[in-house]
Amino acid sequence: MSAAKMSSNREELLKGLNHALNREVSTFLRYMLSAAKIKGAQWAAVRDMYSAEVVDEVGHATYLADKIVMLGGTPELNPDLTPPANDVNEMLKYDIAQEIIDVKGYLRLAEIADAEGLADLKMKMEDQAADEAHHAEEMQRLLG
Ligand SMILES: [Fe+2]
Ligand SMILES: [Fe+2]
Repeated sequence: MSAAKMSSNREELLKGLNHALNREVSTFLRYMLSAAKIKGAQWAAVRDMYSAEVVDEVGHATYLADKIVMLGGTPELNPDLTPPANDVNEMLKYDIAQEIIDVKGYLRLAEIADAEGLADLKMKMEDQAADEAHHAEEMQRLLG
């Protein structure tokens, strides 16, 4: 592999990590608002799920921001501030679709990290893909 090719892979990786960082920040902001907006005893489990997942997504975002810097990049934030739906079922359907997009995104980042010889990053991206798949599954269970 030529030096130029390696550098373009590294650029693609940094761009992908920054994209993922923005998706994570957008997600934890949206989940924080979702938990805040949900009222009613019948939705208590959904509210608890969103509150718990805020913490998971902050952890994902923090890992990504740290890694971007250690790979020589600069984290750049431009989150999507679209608020969550008012209807809880719509909220869940939207977020299930987003979680599934994130699973695919992390699996792609794992491939790029592997090509760059970054075994730790590859495994972490696979872990985050598994976390997002689990989030989607939890939401699907709550949706019924
Ligand atoms: Fe996440
Ligand atoms: Fe998630």
